[in-house]
Amino acid sequence: MDHFHYKNGVYHAEDVNLVKLAEKIGTPFYCYSTATLTRHYSVFSGHFADVDAKICFAVKSNSNVGVLNTLGKLGCGADVVSEGEIRLAMAAGIKPQDIVFSGVGKTASEMAFALDQDIFQFNVESEPEVDLLNQVAISKDKKARIAVRVNPDVDPKTHAKISTGQKESKFGIPMTAALPLYRHIESLRGIDVQGVSVHIGSQLINLEPFAQAFARVRAFVGELRAEGCTINTLDLGGGLGIPYGQEEPPMPDMYAQIAKREMQGLGCKILFEPGRVLVGNAGILVSRVIYIKKSGSRIFVIVDAAMNDLIRPTLYGAYHDIVPVVTPAGDAPTELVDVVGPVCETGDIFAEQRLLKVPAPGDLVAFRSAGAYGAVMASTYNARPLIAEVMVNGTQSAVVRERQTYEDLISRDTIPTWK
Ligand code: LLP
Repeated sequence: MDHFHYKNGVYHAEDVNLVKLAEKIGTPFYCYSTATLTRHYSVFSGHFADVDAKICFAVKSNSNVGVLNTLGKLGCGADVVSEGEIRLAMAAGIKPQDIVFSGVGKTASEMAFALDQDIFQFNVESEPEVDLLNQVAISKDKKARIAVRVNPDVDPKTHAKISTGQKESKFGIPMTAALPLYRHIESLRGIDVQGVSVHIGSQLINLEPFAQAFARVRAFVGELRAEGCTINTLDLGGGLGIPYGQEEPPMPDMYAQIAKREMQGLGCKILFEPGRVLVGNAGILVSRVIYIKKSGSRIFVIVDAAMNDLIRPTLYGAYHDIVPVVTPAGDAPTELVDVVGPVCETGDIFAEQRLLKVPAPGDLVAFRSAGAYGAVMASTYNARPLIAEVMVNGTQSAVVRERQTYEDLISRDTIPTWK
């Protein structure tokens, strides 16, 4: 459930009228709802209130400091994949002790930074990474608390580009190789083993792969303990899908039941790294129609947002619901249209042959479910400044990221002065 809805024919974010907001902020912009974020976090975390669990929001899905601060104040930690994300989480008030650091390519300086902050856990993904982390920790006279990310070889049945838990993927370590790795780690002075982590993919709309992966982790914990390893934390990753269109992903309570069933009796703290399920439907992208272009049999609705602002449709063929910000007149014609941006690429398409009431130039449209992997994946391609991000809370709105100016865009480039 989200808090974007029509009131007297005008789409609102909570109690904020989006026509008025667009006039004030200019378009395009991302708009996030505090009530939706709060609700999603409370529902998700509420299902784990009866076990020792820690929810670490996947910062990669939305790294806006306003969003992170909202979640942090609710008790949420952070799952990060770079020094930049650690810094953003901390700038938002999330304590390092609530941060886990994932990712296959951590550099020595990122490790050093994370160790200096004393973050809760590194999820390591290869032997060379563990060896480097060990050296960095020893040089600082510290110990890095780690979990090894295992690859359970489970098909998550999601888009190929966001599947991470199969054996040909670059992520994690196959369980057969992880066992000797844990033995090796026991000999490292700079490392303290505290757990196991797993993450098999994103936008899962089926619970079976989670159940399989968690069961494999459970069995693996038994093997590790038989070898004398101390395992106190189990990081079960993220990945729970959301409805973008007609799909019906599992409800968080069903997901929680499976996770709790598989982890029952192990006596571990369970960590989760949800991203999309918390923020995906807590954000929309608001854009204005520039032109309606009729070309042969096609009707192109050309809007002022583009693939550089929201790349999901062209990168993954992702579906985003497109709704008019002002309800069109009942007799407005409904046609199959292509909704496209101004970028000079044929792939700059938000929706192809979508049945919509044809808007008029100047009308506002909202792309729903844009809170996750929207703004964070934006670029300035075609020299288009990064767009504004706004949060609403009841009747209030706040710009949580200023639109980039043309001066910002140009100022980092220089003309070389050759000798
Ligand atoms: N933990 C790890 C280690 C991850 O790699 C990810 C996502 C998550 C947690 C959070 O997954 P979530 O709960 O959000 O599904 N750009 C793509 C999604 C990439 C997901 C990358 N990893 C998209 O727009 O669909």
